[in-house]
Amino acid sequence: MDVNKAVIPAAGFGTRFLPVTKAQPKEMMPVLDKPTIQYVVEEAVDAGIDDILIITGRGKQSIERHFDKSYELEAELAAAGKDDRLDRVQEIADLCDIHYVRQKERDGLGDAVRYARKHVGDEPFALLLGDTIVKSEVSCTAKLIDHAEAHGESTISLEAVPWEKVSAYGVADVGERSEDGSLPIEELVEKPAREDAPSNLAITGRYVLTSEIFDLLEETEPGVGGELQLTDALRKLPAIRGVELDGDRYDIGNIPDWLQANLEMALTHDDGEMNDAVRTLVEEELDG
Ligand code: UTP
Repeated sequence: MDVNKAVIPAAGFGTRFLPVTKAQPKEMMPVLDKPTIQYVVEEAVDAGIDDILIITGRGKQSIERHFDKSYELEAELAAAGKDDRLDRVQEIADLCDIHYVRQKERDGLGDAVRYARKHVGDEPFALLLGDTIVKSEVSCTAKLIDHAEAHGESTISLEAVPWEKVSAYGVADVGERSEDGSLPIEELVEKPAREDAPSNLAITGRYVLTSEIFDLLEETEPGVGGELQLTDALRKLPAIRGVELDGDRYDIGNIPDWLQANLEMALTHDDGEMNDAVRTLVEEELDG
């Protein structure tokens, strides 16, 4: 198994973050000075991926513009001698090859992944949700690729979530842990009631999948919410493995997580001046 391509679905409506997502993709919500999807692309690039397909839809054009060259801006920055800023702008367009395909109807994550079939072909691929940032020392996707390649199986990232939150996730029933720490997945349940959940190990938005998933998606009927659920197709894979996430995950599609991402990243950023300013601000707010 050799994973060289990544797919990033970014076509959803983002209803949990309305009205800000009415005319702006939630994947473009800034966390500090970068839009969410740039962190996601950088994670894939850190994992050695050089070919990314972003699934977009109506109203998502600013994603393409962000990863495109910006000749006018670059000329202005160069003329003004703002070399650091110029480098940062140019780096974005040079990250890797980015391709786009549009999901016609917002029929769910499973439906969005179907649109990657032509681009991905018969190869295994990484799948990263465009609204989820994972901060970890080693790229979460790189770790998944290592396990997937070692076992020759589809491999997904799992995270123990509080039991009262399991009904918001796809949840895994797992078997005995392998020597390398990965967990064979015996069953996956989409958004179970707390009392029906087989564990609190939730699917977290990072996957490495074999191309078998495309045929399985074609055979899958719409599920929870009338949407084609990726989890329903994952359940049909002959073998699938879970690896526990080692880091912090932020689902930018809801306000508390988005705020937490901004705060924690500001406090751990290598810009000491910003750390101090944000720490002071938070302390003053809490004291006041
Ligand atoms: P979500 O499950 O958060 O759905 O998508 P959503 O529609 O974007 O947001 P809410 O629930 O209405 O607030 C997870 C990821 O899958 C993409 C989204 O863009 C997001 O990055 N997605 C979801 C699609 O690409 N297409 C879809 O039909 C649904």
